[in-house]
Order: sequence, then C-alpha cells, then structure tokens
Amino acid sequence: MEIRTDLFLGDCKEKLALLQDNTIDLIFTSPPYADQRKTSYGGIHPYKYVEWFLPISLHLLRVLKPTGTFILNIKEKIVKGERSTYVIELILEMRKQGWLWTEEFIWHKKNSYPGKWPNRFRDAWERLLQFNKSRKFNMYQDEVMVPMGDWAKTRLRKLSETDKTRDNSKVGSGFGKNVSNWLKRDKAYPTNVLHLATECSNKNHSATFPEELPEWFIKLFTKEYDTVLDPFMGSGTTLIVANRMKRHSIGIDIVPEYYQMVRKRLMPIELVLLDPKDEYEKIKHERRTEVR
Ligand SMILES: C[S@@+](CC[C@H](N)C(=O)[O-])C[C@H]1O[C@@H](n2cnc3c(N)ncnc32)[C@H](O)[C@@H]1O
Repeated sequence: MEIRTDLFLGDCKEKLALLQDNTIDLIFTSPPYADQRKTSYGGIHPYKYVEWFLPISLHLLRVLKPTGTFILNIKEKIVKGERSTYVIELILEMRKQGWLWTEEFIWHKKNSYPGKWPNRFRDAWERLLQFNKSRKFNMYQDEVMVPMGDWAKTRLRKLSETDKTRDNSKVGSGFGKNVSNWLKRDKAYPTNVLHLATECSNKNHSATFPEELPEWFIKLFTKEYDTVLDPFMGSGTTLIVANRMKRHSIGIDIVPEYYQMVRKRLMPIELVLLDPKDEYEKIKHERRTEVR
C-alpha cells in the first residue's frame, strides 16, 4: 500500500474542519507556546491561550478515532516571575470538552545549555500531555521496551520476600508487582520520562523537536498504515518520521515558508498538497520530469 502525506497551508482551526470524523490514530504536536517566539511566527497571550486552543482541541476530538491518542507537547512560560497557569487551565477545559487526561510524559532535555538565573535553575524538561477519547485506546507497549541494563544485576541479585511474591499495592489500587518475574528477562518497559537531546542544528525553524520524540510515540500508539496528524507541523519532523515508519500523515502550518520547507523535505514522497489544490498536479508533474 502507498503511504500518503497530506499537507495544508493555513490556520489549523480552519483546515481541521476539512478532515473527516474518527479518522486519525495519533495526533502529535507542539503548538506555539504563549507569547514565545513572537518574532518568528507570532504568539498567543498567556491569558488568551485557552480560549485560542479550545476550538482547535474540539476539532481534534472530532477527528481522532475512539482508539486514538493525542500527545500535546506544551510548557507554561514564566510571566512576571511566576509560572503561568494556562496549561493547567487548558487541561481542565479540555476535560470539559470530553477529553480524558490519561497520562503525562516528561521529555528530559539531556543537552540543555548551562546558564544562571537569579531565582531559578535552567529548564531542562518539557511536558507531553496524553489525552484520549476513551479508556480503551491502542497502545503497543512491547514496541518501546528498553534493555534491562545494570539495574537487573544489582537490584535483582538479592530478592526480598515481597519481591518473590506479588506485592500488592498498599493503597488498594488493584495493581501489584512481582519483581522476580523480571529476573530472566533482558528487556523492560520504559518509564514515562524520556531522556533525549534537543535538536540543535534545526532545519530553519526555531522550535524543532528531535526526531526520536515523535518516533517513540508513533511506535507506542500506532502501527504501519495508521494515520498521524500534526496540526502545527513547523519543519515537519512528525511527518518525516511518520513517513519513514510507514504511517500516513497529515500536516498543517500557517506560515508559507514552513509549508514550503516541509514540501521540499518530503519531495521524494507521494504528496497531496491540499492547499492550494493545483499544487498536487504541479508536484506530480515535477516528479515525473525528475524521473525522466
Ligand atoms: C513549536 S512550532 C512546531 C515545531 C515542529 N514540532 C518541528 O519539529 O519543527 C509551532 C508551529 O505552529 C505554527 N502555527 C502557529 N499558529 C498556527 C495555526 N493557527 N495553525 C497552524 N499552524 C500554526 C507555527 O508556524 C510553527 O511552525
């Protein structure tokens, strides 16, 4: 089967209306943060952020399959010496829209540059909020297993009595663990903290995330020929990775230069440029000419 990539130029609030209900398996995106990076593509005032995002998240709720997942990479900025609360407010409002806030992952930026601030330390992590439409969403946990490493050698050498039997949760959650079960295994499930370097040599975009970030979530929440959407695609990292991993993808960006950049980066791939419509024909023609 052919892998399809659809690109839109414009405001995602409008372009999302063109997508059909219940068709997306994973939404993975990093929207502009409140007021930040004003110079490159505008920003939204922290106090207006929730109001701005809610019509977009309503569309995302509509287009996501009931088995799908929405991963939102976002972090509150500092306003007048304190953390702004728009991320917290957004979570509460999205729950009212019908979203389940199922999990929160931390992206630990291993190589964040050193610095000195009078009242805080360098910021070396970002949130990845997970939202779902239902409690039964697709999750392929075995795809992201990690080597057991030295932990197994040291921690599992001397097993306590509770380690050898199922140690039920003390808070009555119904969960429990049997540490001895992991004794002969060479792989374990990862935690919800991802240790990845930031993308330094970015592709003419000021806010690219490293390819490993979408890659990990695409592995975890989709399989081949599923569809991944990034409504704030920027330099197209999510789409490039999705394509490499044999997933269909859809990307939107409001800045023509970014849209053109993604178009060029995806050039060898079968592209469907949905805006403007005639570009698809143009590209197909260009590709035919290149092949000759
Ligand atoms: C944080 S960047 C995304 C970076 C991307 N993850 C990457 O790896 O390159 C956010 C992007 O959202 C775009 N954007 C801002 N407002 C938008 C809107 N209303 N609709 C669509 N795109 C928008 C910006 O042009 C910018 O490229």
